[in-house]
Amino acid sequence: MTFDPLDWAAFAAVGRSMVDDMAGHLATLRERPAWQPVPAEVREALRQGLPREGQGLETCYEEFRRLVLPYTNGNIHPRFWGWVQGAGDPHAMLAALLGAGLNPMSAGFQQSAPLVEERVIAWMVELMGFPADASGVLSSSGTMANLLGLAVARHARAGFDVREQGLCGQPPLTLYCSVEAHGWARRSAEMLGIGNRHLRRIPVDALFRMDLNELRAEIRADRASGFQPFCVIGTAGTVNTGAIDPLEEMAELCAGEGLWFHVDGAFGALARWSENLAPLVRGIERADSLAFDLHKWGSLPFTCGCTLTRHAEEHRAAFALERPYMAPTERGVLAGGVPFADLGIDLTRGFESLKAWLCFKTHGFNAQAAMIEQNVRQAQRLAALVEASPELELMAPVSLNVVCFRYAAADAGGLDALNQEILLRLQESGRAVISSTLIRGRFSLRAAHVNHRSTDADFDELVRAVIEIGKDLT
Ligand SMILES: Cc1ncc(COP(=O)(O)O)c(C=O)c1O
Repeated sequence: MTFDPLDWAAFAAVGRSMVDDMAGHLATLRERPAWQPVPAEVREALRQGLPREGQGLETCYEEFRRLVLPYTNGNIHPRFWGWVQGAGDPHAMLAALLGAGLNPMSAGFQQSAPLVEERVIAWMVELMGFPADASGVLSSSGTMANLLGLAVARHARAGFDVREQGLCGQPPLTLYCSVEAHGWARRSAEMLGIGNRHLRRIPVDALFRMDLNELRAEIRADRASGFQPFCVIGTAGTVNTGAIDPLEEMAELCAGEGLWFHVDGAFGALARWSENLAPLVRGIERADSLAFDLHKWGSLPFTCGCTLTRHAEEHRAAFALERPYMAPTERGVLAGGVPFADLGIDLTRGFESLKAWLCFKTHGFNAQAAMIEQNVRQAQRLAALVEASPELELMAPVSLNVVCFRYAAADAGGLDALNQEILLRLQESGRAVISSTLIRGRFSLRAAHVNHRSTDADFDELVRAVIEIGKDLT
């Protein structure tokens, strides 16, 4: 018995029609709603029992087309700017096919997959301005990429062997991020045993950037009280407003204080790919560790996060294990060992790097940079449209690609509830998908733009739709 098809030619024909259908689907996205809810009958149809008997590829594919394909969350649509979700590059769909076909175990071994990942990491090191001997690894997400960076920081700066001893009986480690930092920081403090209460949230200035006087004061107070500060987290592109912390000053402060400087650049770090935008994130190249996603502004399909650190030795030391069943050999399949398994948590790793390698080589980084510039220009244009519309109010300065605004032509007391209703009606209309957040406690609509399919006209439609819905409701 085998899972290989009995008839390879018939199998390939189904595969070809899948590629044809998906290309057709992507080419006609504009003709469909940006999002539609999953109908009750589709939910019911998907609630199937255990398929003990095989149903065949054609039947499953027909079900996929009917029950799965139309009901995704919409991020591939040209008018989707909800949360920070990349639209996906169709070329990576082909890379995923090739990668899954080859199915190499990509932790290392003497084979092509780790060489491809090494190349992708080397490109990222160069683009981010890190030293050529910096170390890096791809992982599943921004959350994971940041967690890995913080794990290296903890290992390098705890002042004791944290892997061996754990944190029990040691002075409590503290670390610092702004109040605008993403939830990954809390998740990481919890997972690394540091504890949420030891993650200090530092207030921000009028541009939502960390206030460094407050940071200095907090570090001083912690030291005086017997805590052990070890790491400062800067954000390049906050999730709420796209604000960029004063990275250069933070790097300076960390060097002076002997603290590890970690930067979460989940999407904002990619501004450095553009010569014109790179000054916005100046200082990122001085980070001890940097995490970012290629599935956000890099447009790779989910999922692909990346961690870089200038401390290659410490990176390996934070994770390396001896594995008698995988001891490196001089020759043979295992020659070179499994280096990527020693740079993160996963042992078995897929061939995600192929998506990055194929897309970035196909387009070139000049085009990737031009796309990021296009998105920033469109975000600024959206902000200008908001400011030119008497019904709308801009809720935060636009630092990069995130525009926070709301419908404000109504009684100020009810604006939070009104905008929540506008948001839901807009999504349900299928005209566009944006999301929301709180800006200084006030409900705000939020468009986070990492979409390579959007045109200026798409943003005109967004503004029109929000005003129309707002007028209908008031
Ligand atoms: C600034 C920032 N950091 C971290 C993350 C987490 O990334 P992921 O969702 O890939 O885990 C996000 C997600 O939007 C983000 O915006």
